[in-house]
Amino acid sequence: MILDELKCTQVQVIDEINNAKTMKDIGEIKGKVFGKNGVLTSLSRGMKDVSAEERPKVGALINEVRNAIEKALAEKEQEVENAELALKLEKEKIDITEPAQGVKKGALHPIPSVIDRLCDICVGLGFSVVEGPEVESDYYNFEAMNIPKNHPSRDMQDTFFINDNILLRSQTSAVQAREMEVKKPPFKIICPGKTYRNDSDSTHSPVFHQLEGLVIDENVSMADLKSMLTIIMKRLYGEDTEIRFRPSFFPFTEPSIEVDVSCPTCHGKGCSLCKGTGMLELLGAGIVNPKVLEMSGIDSKKYRGFAFGFGLDRTAMILNSIGNIRYLYKNDKRFLEQMK
Ligand code: PHE
Repeated sequence: MILDELKCTQVQVIDEINNAKTMKDIGEIKGKVFGKNGVLTSLSRGMKDVSAEERPKVGALINEVRNAIEKALAEKEQEVENAELALKLEKEKIDITEPAQGVKKGALHPIPSVIDRLCDICVGLGFSVVEGPEVESDYYNFEAMNIPKNHPSRDMQDTFFINDNILLRSQTSAVQAREMEVKKPPFKIICPGKTYRNDSDSTHSPVFHQLEGLVIDENVSMADLKSMLTIIMKRLYGEDTEIRFRPSFFPFTEPSIEVDVSCPTCHGKGCSLCKGTGMLELLGAGIVNPKVLEMSGIDSKKYRGFAFGFGLDRTAMILNSIGNIRYLYKNDKRFLEQMK
């Protein structure tokens, strides 16, 4: 009896194994055969009822059936594993003949790029870089710069006031005033940053950028200022750049100058960028007014200083031949891509 049952079980189970498709199917068969209540487990348990002379035969057959089932299972497992791997490989196939997508490179916006270049040049000349608040007090932006309330020279900078005493800084000179109060001379600083004025046309934006330089030391002269600016301009625009100094007026410097350079596009011949003049107006500068030094607590008998202020938007426009300041603020990707 038990012998027939065993043979029958072997045939049935191997048939099921042959039909299995997945690892899950195989797992289920294993449970059904070898589990606690599995067919083979129950049949083995039945050994105790088998007579002594039959027992070796039945035992041998049980082993034979177990071995046959285990062998079939192992073979099936291998087969299913191979099939699953083949399917996975097929799905994850990479077509190496497809054209590559390429690596897209970004580029620095012209303004931070000009700030970086000028900072590099000035740090190389011994300046340190400092920053200050954009929302500034009237005192640091104007009064400490020798521009008292109601003074006509305030009209040079059409300022955004938040209230009577707080404003959006109209010049990075405000950072100079703050630094002069806390730093002990001699020192050399540059202050790059955003500035604000109520101005808007093809060369002016209400938000723009300046970089202010300040040197305070004993025996500082106009000659030092001129040579320092000549070095900076030549490093920025090229060694063959011509530099012109013109007298000017600023309340915080005395004497004051304005600085022009030969147009890097036409090299002084005249073009649309320089409006046919061959020269570009670039920055204001001068010897720091002793009143400004005294207001910040610096002894004007012992120390003198010179200062200069760049318009960075204008510098970026000249260096990249950009005709309208709006391009700098539009975030047009096509424009930015050309800046690489
Ligand atoms: N702060 C001045 C301006 O914005 C520029 C300047 C700076 C002039 C330093 C002289 C010295 O117009």
